[in-house]
Amino acid sequence: VDRYAVIGNPVGHSKSPDIHAAFAAATGQRLRYDRLEAPLDGFAATVQAFAAAGGRGLNVTVPFKLEAFALADTLTARAAAAGAVNTLRFQTAEGRIVIEGDNTDGAGLVHDLQHNLHCRLAGARILLLGAGGAARGVLLPLLECRPACLAIANRTPARAHELQAHFAAAAGRLDCLLTAAGTSGPAAARYDVVINATSGSLAGDVPAFAAGAIGPGTLAYDMMYGAEATVFMRHAAALGATAHDGLGMLVEQAAESFALWRGVRPDGGAVLARLRAARD
Ligand code: ATR
Repeated sequence: VDRYAVIGNPVGHSKSPDIHAAFAAATGQRLRYDRLEAPLDGFAATVQAFAAAGGRGLNVTVPFKLEAFALADTLTARAAAAGAVNTLRFQTAEGRIVIEGDNTDGAGLVHDLQHNLHCRLAGARILLLGAGGAARGVLLPLLECRPACLAIANRTPARAHELQAHFAAAAGRLDCLLTAAGTSGPAAARYDVVINATSGSLAGDVPAFAAGAIGPGTLAYDMMYGAEATVFMRHAAALGATAHDGLGMLVEQAAESFALWRGVRPDGGAVLARLRAARD
């Protein structure tokens, strides 16, 4: 059977094997999906050994998404824009293994927002909190939904400006007003969607944002998830927003990877409902 895995360090707690097993069962695909822990200094060698042994594809998680980007022979447009790779596909051409790099994180986020949470992104006012790898990874897919405006706010403002400059041409092409916003003072207006792409939740921190940015009518989304609501979700809910965690993004990025590998996109919503039921 075709073999796949999630590669990371650590990787023991990854939900990806369960998610992909559920997708395989639901779509009638025969495959095997394991966890693969690479040594911190041995990512490329572990990938090459897996591919040489007949492996067909890998999901890449912390801390290897940048190394995967560097290792790939070819990149999809969204992986190039993200500057990071979370999905590898191996193909053999003239006896040589070619490594294709993709990034399904942004598509997974967009799919969760639009299909599972019934959130309309076209014409929406979006605030993206954070300007690190996670924020960059979702920017192009968000812009492609043609929001009216997308503001990037970051603790270190210079990084928000860098990201805005990097995506300015794409935003112009897609008729979206892309700005770098401050994290203090009053917001120009309330946002329809506020996405926390900072790593603050890991430390129990709520990132700063302008007063009034979140309120009733805002959908607040934390790309993190855990057994309980994140501090950002609780804070946003206290301001009147509806708050969601990133479990749906995890499931839907997996569905996008599965589609790349197998040519059929599984129903992420059904698997997400099962994961949530198992957690509650
Ligand atoms: P990742 O790949 O997870 O995005 P990263 O590239 O290190 O990791 O970026 C982390 C992001 O979270 C950054 O935007 C960071 O803000 P700075 O650029 O100012 O460092 C943001 N971040 C991390 N901890 C934060 C906190 N406690 N409050 C607000 N922002 C935080």
